[in-house]
Amino acid sequence: MGIFEINTSKSDLFEKLSKCEKKESFITYIQQEFIDANMLVHKYLYYTFESVIRYLKTIKNSKYKALLNVSTEVEVAKFSTYFEDIKIHSTYNEYDYVSVGCGDGDKDASILKTLNDKLKYTENINYIPLEFSYYLILSAITKVKTKCSNYVDIYPFNVDFLKYQEFIDKFNKTLNSNRHAIFSLFGHTIGNYLETDLLNPISNLMRPYDFLLIGYEVYPDMEVYRRNTGHYDNKEDRDFLKYPLKLLPNFSGHLEEDDNLKFEITKDISYTKIEGCFSVVPTLKDTGINLTLAFSTKYQVELLKQFFKDYFNELSLKYIKNYESSNEFPQYALMILQKQENIQDLKKKALIRIRDLIESQQSCKDELIKIKRDIEGGLIDNEDILKFIIEPRHTGSVIVDRVNKWLKSNHNK
Ligand SMILES: C[S@@+](CC[C@H](N)C(=O)[O-])C[C@H]1O[C@@H](n2cnc3c(N)ncnc32)[C@H](O)[C@@H]1O
Repeated sequence: MGIFEINTSKSDLFEKLSKCEKKESFITYIQQEFIDANMLVHKYLYYTFESVIRYLKTIKNSKYKALLNVSTEVEVAKFSTYFEDIKIHSTYNEYDYVSVGCGDGDKDASILKTLNDKLKYTENINYIPLEFSYYLILSAITKVKTKCSNYVDIYPFNVDFLKYQEFIDKFNKTLNSNRHAIFSLFGHTIGNYLETDLLNPISNLMRPYDFLLIGYEVYPDMEVYRRNTGHYDNKEDRDFLKYPLKLLPNFSGHLEEDDNLKFEITKDISYTKIEGCFSVVPTLKDTGINLTLAFSTKYQVELLKQFFKDYFNELSLKYIKNYESSNEFPQYALMILQKQENIQDLKKKALIRIRDLIESQQSCKDELIKIKRDIEGGLIDNEDILKFIIEPRHTGSVIVDRVNKWLKSNHNK
């Protein structure tokens, strides 16, 4: 086993809480964030030990269990299909695995087993869970340690993944520089945040060619949701959603009656950036208080795909593939994205490589100098060609040949 310590990285909040793990500090933080965000932020639902017990009870109730089963089925099985497939086309056989919001670690243990069984690792797989809940990350570590101890090294980050600046340096050091990483955002966590708020930090943690797998719940429209839903509206779920509020003096008196928690369905842009998708927002309504709890946006496959194609160019997150479960409900899908290299960075790398080749490969020096000028002048700006130039196994003459063919065909267009 590799490093195995829970304190690898801590957000500000955790550092303060570990020194003084009292409910009062928690209340101060939760209240402040509540005031800033004007709602109870999703991560607090899993924060205390009692909340986690409620969460684990919730995922065992029949409606939720059906969703959990189908999500696990799609996420784990399609993951396996995809990486089996790219193994054939890729020079990479080894990946680090980063689980964003790992939860109890059940799915991650299956993913790690799949990676180990399907790809031929020469060294251990690095498992890097990023999780706000101390109790859930402990659960994930324990499960992975028990089920995959022979082939996994664990580097846990007990952090708020939105505050990536606080831990990015340490995080980068744990990633293996000879491997790409696979990031997972499973269990419909994407629906619990404004998509851009969540995907900006994740994209910043990713390096070029790393993968991001997003598991999400699918609903074609609001009416279909109304007809099929019900997994929130039961005792366990209400109990889970309301629990953090019991710790807040301002709200604890309003929590006994079940019927003051309403599940509103809205297309408000403060919950989703994707026009046409809708959010379910549990709201506690009572005389004098009106409190929004963590929300959940439901996606239509085509709209989410289009969103990635249109909006995420600037984050260089490229849409690759989407797998959907059957039309039965609950319906679930897995989207695969890949981080692309920024074209300016690619150009810089290509120029460094050409300069090295000019020094070392005299036989095609003049052609290489011309290629250098063409890159600088913006004539060569094609991603595939630039990647071809950078590839270490391509010699100067092979590069000259490939670039000339491309320039010719580009000229003829
Ligand atoms: C919906 S659960 C999904 C759990 C697991 N990935 C699965 O598929 O079953 C969301 C998870 O993300 C974690 N989480 C939510 N917000 C977070 C944040 N800001 N930083 C770190 N973890 C967070 C929660 O504690 C929880 O474990």
